[in-house]
Amino acid sequence: MTPVQGFLVFLVITLAFLGAAVVSGLRAKRAVHLPCVAGAVLALLVTIYYAEKLGGEYDLKTAGVITPIHLFLAKLTTLGYLLPVFTGVRTLRNQAGRKLHGRVAFAVLFMTVVTAATGTAMVLMSEPLQP
Ligand code: HEM
Repeated sequence: MTPVQGFLVFLVITLAFLGAAVVSGLRAKRAVHLPCVAGAVLALLVTIYYAEKLGGEYDLKTAGVITPIHLFLAKLTTLGYLLPVFTGVRTLRNQAGRKLHGRVAFAVLFMTVVTAATGTAMVLMSEPLQP
């Protein structure tokens, strides 16, 4: 698989798992929710692997200020995934944590969309290393 193919395939798989995690979470279907979350995290790691390979084919500095912005957001969002894990484990123990967990989960999903958009802009604005 080329980096572009790998990135796109695993991005779609990640989004499918995240969508299923949101729906199953809202419906309180824990037996579906937890495997979907695990699948989303694993697929996200493979997506990041292909994104790094894809980035290696471009001179990302030529994209300008969007590059440091995207790299900062990418690190922040990856770290942000720890929050739904903490609040999710807390909710397993005490149902009262559910509201906070939902808010944190949607905040991280929003950050994921912003990170994907800035990453796409960065690659489109960069010059390929081997034209
Ligand atoms: C990317 C990660 C995750 C996303 C997007 C996500 C999303 C959601 C959403 C939207 C809800 C519904 C909240 C509400 O009704 O306001 C929910 C519920 C829940 N989530 Fe997650 N979640 C994630 C990770 C986790 C993890 C890691 C755990 C546990 C280890 C977990 C455990 C739970 C539990 C126990 C509930 C409540 C279900 C019930 O009421 O029985 N979640 N989640």
